[in-house]
Amino acid sequence: MVKAGLEDIVATDSTICFLDGKEGRLLYQGYDIHDLAEHSTFEEVVYLLWFGRLPNKGELETINRELRVNRRLPDDVVKMMKQMPKKALPMEVLRTVVSMLSMYDPDGDDHGREAAIRKATRLTAQMPTIVAYWDNIRNDKEVLAPLEDCNLAANFLYMLNHKKPDEVSTRSLDIALILHADHELNASTFAARVAAGTETDLHSAVTAAIGTLKGPLHGGANQEVIKMLLKISEPKDAEMFIKKQLDEHKKIMGFGHRVYRTDDPRASHLRKMSEELGKRMGDTKWFEMSRTIEETVFREKHLYANVDFYSASVYYMLGIPVDLFTPIFAMSRMSGWAAHILEQLANNRLIRPRAEYVGPTNAKYESVEKR
Ligand SMILES: CC(C)(COP(=O)(O)OP(=O)(O)OC[C@H]1O[C@@H](n2cnc3c(N)ncnc32)[C@H](O)[C@@H]1OP(=O)(O)O)[C@@H](O)C(=O)NCCC(=O)NCCS
Repeated sequence: MVKAGLEDIVATDSTICFLDGKEGRLLYQGYDIHDLAEHSTFEEVVYLLWFGRLPNKGELETINRELRVNRRLPDDVVKMMKQMPKKALPMEVLRTVVSMLSMYDPDGDDHGREAAIRKATRLTAQMPTIVAYWDNIRNDKEVLAPLEDCNLAANFLYMLNHKKPDEVSTRSLDIALILHADHELNASTFAARVAAGTETDLHSAVTAAIGTLKGPLHGGANQEVIKMLLKISEPKDAEMFIKKQLDEHKKIMGFGHRVYRTDDPRASHLRKMSEELGKRMGDTKWFEMSRTIEETVFREKHLYANVDFYSASVYYMLGIPVDLFTPIFAMSRMSGWAAHILEQLANNRLIRPRAEYVGPTNAKYESVEKR
């Protein structure tokens, strides 16, 4: 029998992301995630993932400019968003609008590398607009034209909240975007590569990836984490809640990982951010509760927190609505999906694995009356 979930199967060579689950190391194109989280910007990381090296000054200026001037959505798309049911989940809207944007893309059915980079640039710039606009539209608020004088994180918070964010909020989100940008052959990236391998268009591959990220075992976990924290409500009740969940054989969202057998290197930054944001707000309740949960899960199950665990309290403290947590993950992971799509296309062969057939081989058809 094949090991379920393709565990430990190496499906491709790649230079984009190195992931050492035993040592807890994560590198983008050879650069340590800790170095990038401390010194880099999301825009610089986008360039690094797509082009395999850090940009020089001119190249950084160009990608910054391209990611700023491409933020607008076509008027028809905004009109269509206004027709969508108000109860639609932000991830449903994001998946649908990204798919819709392929019909408006100036590069049309040009699927060459240069066109794919331009399409990826436009989608990376537009996804925050889609997410912020949807939150505005469903709350009967007007939508604001994107700014062009600030980075992606600041513009997103501005469009979402209708006011310019402070520096700490902007940098916190910028770091969160860096940390979520890529993670080797996770489920959504694999979905993107499988789609790209058929030589379909970039929008289709990204649409497949968004649909895959939406699941609670993948990107949807951060929303489940905050729902759990809100349900627990007080740090003193956290330990008992978790023990009860584990006694009932329920999974604790934000814990465990297919690859990491030690601390997720992304979680350490988010843990720190959660604590700092809490202190700044004069309310460390969510951080304290998270720490208690982390200690309890480790003691009881020897499981480590993953990227989704602390990103939940960070986004919550930044005032971001709960169901936008996974779309924010998508806004960032767009950069990694595009990097993998470009890598797939550079040396493409259709991805078509086999299944070990374990079913019957001599079934005889009987008419419906006899069954
Ligand atoms: C991430 C995840 C899907 C990895 O799954 P996987 O590699 O298929 O591992 P499994 O689900 O088979 O788990 C292996 C064992 O650890 C346990 N386990 C894994 N994650 C757990 C969690 N979050 N809470 C409690 N137990 C957990 C499983 O119950 C299983 O125990 P068993 O062998 O006694 O049955 C899984 O850890 C999970 O569901 N985590 C919660 C969702 C989440 O945070 N996802 C975001 C990932 S970044």
